[in-house]
Amino acid sequence: MIVNAKDMIAAAKKGKYAVGQFNINNLEWTKAVLNTAQELNSPVILGVSGGAGKYMTGFATVAAMVSAMDKSLKISVPVAVHLDHGGYDECLSCIEAGFTSIMFDGSHFEISENIKKTTELVEIAHKNNMSIEAEVGSIGGEEDGVIGMGEIADPEACKAIADLNVDFLAAGIGNIHGVYPANWKGLDFDALEKINKKTDGIPLVLHGGTGIPEEMIKRAIGLGVCKINVNTECQLSFAEATRAYIEAGKDKVGKGFDPRKLLTPGYEAIKKTVLEKMTLFGSVGRA
Ligand code: 13P
Repeated sequence: MIVNAKDMIAAAKKGKYAVGQFNINNLEWTKAVLNTAQELNSPVILGVSGGAGKYMTGFATVAAMVSAMDKSLKISVPVAVHLDHGGYDECLSCIEAGFTSIMFDGSHFEISENIKKTTELVEIAHKNNMSIEAEVGSIGGEEDGVIGMGEIADPEACKAIADLNVDFLAAGIGNIHGVYPANWKGLDFDALEKINKKTDGIPLVLHGGTGIPEEMIKRAIGLGVCKINVNTECQLSFAEATRAYIEAGKDKVGKGFDPRKLLTPGYEAIKKTVLEKMTLFGSVGRA
C-alpha cells in the first residue's frame, strides 16, 4: 500500500523503533525490498537518489514501477516512495512524478538559504499530501576517492529547520555514507542527545546505516532516531552473491546465463540484508 511516510514514522517514534529506508536501483532491488517488507509485516521506505532515478530513466518510471509492483505483488504493508538527498528541482520533479515523500538536502547552503528553500518545499509537499525530510549538517562519505568525515549538526540550526514543520529531520552526528573507515570515531551521542532535546521530539533520521554497529543503532533509536537509511550494504551483498555465482561458473551451466537465474542470488542476498536490518531496527510486525 503506497502512502506517505508521516504516519509510519510517527508510529515508529511512539513505539521506539525505526523504519528502514532501503535505496533501490532497479526492478530486482524493488522486488526484494517489497517482498521482504510484506513477509515481515514491516513498514518500509524505498529511497531513490537522483542518480538512481536517472539510471532507471526518470522519477516517473520509478513511481510507475513501484505502484504497479505494489499492486501485482499485493503489498499490504505501508510503503513510501521517497526522494533521497534531493535538490530543489528534483523535489519538484518527484512531486510531479507521483512520489509520496521527498528529502530536500539543503545542508550545503547557508542556514538562511536552507530555511528559505525548506519552507517553500514544506508547503508544496504538504499540499500534495507528501511527507518531507530536511537536513542539517552534511553527511560525509566517499567522493572522488576521498572519505570525508561527517559534520556534527548544530542543535540551534536543527531547531530552526525542525520548526518549519518538516516531518522528519536528518542531522549529521558523525555518520557518513558508504563503508566506515577504520579510524571512524563512531556516532556522536552527546550531539544526538542535544539535537533530540532541542528539536522537541521531531523524528530524527540516521543516514549512512551501512556498517554502524548494532549497539550504536539501538542507542540512536533510544535517542529519537525513527528512520535509518541503508544503501551500500545491499549493494555489497548483491555484488558478493553475484560474484560467487559467476566465479563458481554457474552462468556456464545449462541456462545459467539467463538473467532471471544470474540475478537470483543477488536478489536473495538483498532480501537477507533487508531482513537483518528490519529485525535490528525493530520494525518487524509493525505494519
Ligand atoms: P549507506 O550507503 O552508507 O548505507 O547510506 C545510505 C544513505 O544514507 C542514503 O541516504
